[in-house]
Amino acid sequence: MSRVESAPIHVVPLVDAAEVAREASSRIAGELRHAIDRRGRASIALSGGNTPRDTYVRLAREPDIDWTHVTVVWVDERAVAPTDDRSNYRWAKETLLDAARIPPDRVHPMPAEDPDCGAASHAYELALREAVALDAEGVPSIDVVVLGIGDDGHTASLFPGEPTVHVRDRLVACVPAATSREPRMTLTPPVLEHARAVFVLAVGAAKRPALQRAWSDQGDLAQTPARVIRECRGDVTWIVDRAAADG
Ligand code: 6PG
Repeated sequence: MSRVESAPIHVVPLVDAAEVAREASSRIAGELRHAIDRRGRASIALSGGNTPRDTYVRLAREPDIDWTHVTVVWVDERAVAPTDDRSNYRWAKETLLDAARIPPDRVHPMPAEDPDCGAASHAYELALREAVALDAEGVPSIDVVVLGIGDDGHTASLFPGEPTVHVRDRLVACVPAATSREPRMTLTPPVLEHARAVFVLAVGAAKRPALQRAWSDQGDLAQTPARVIRECRGDVTWIVDRAAADG
């Protein structure tokens, strides 16, 4: 598929965090059911952070999802143990994986804590290619990607000032530590761009400046890496509360 013009920004403005979680889990569940009905299987990539946790709790309770046909991968991960409070895997396990009784062989944690991040990211890319259906361009086309946005305008672990947002020859990349930030591993823009459905969750007034920079017609990708979402070819839905949308 050729690079399309940025799709229109589809925003679902809701009252508060609880509504965001309800709306997001309902829409994500619908996409997973649709993928299983159409293709016999589905895949979902999970972001970490606080915002999606309530969505994951609700998603685990959504009816009529055959989780034995759903592959779970991560959007990004911190270089911490899987039991660490900062671990995205740990929170996904606590909110979604255990409650939905997702079979362990369908779950592919991102090995960000591996001391050899380069080799580990390459191995994760191979695992991703195995676990997720490839599209016509040979890129894993994840059915559902859940993203957040940082107050600084990052998404996934694509941070302002880091070259990672420009990586196009790899599907998984390592991100060095920074002040008050452990090293990370992250999916790169090509994977996000080839997803079938992307849901961006944002709650709270602190997100408003970053959202405005991400939604603006003009802007600098290096300064606001969340602008990479504008290049996604699939359906992108921004599910935000009123405080984030209009402050
Ligand atoms: C992570 C996430 C990251 C997150 C944003 C927003 O590992 O932290 O993948 O990209 O989505 O930082 O985090 P909050 O939801 O906590 O605001």
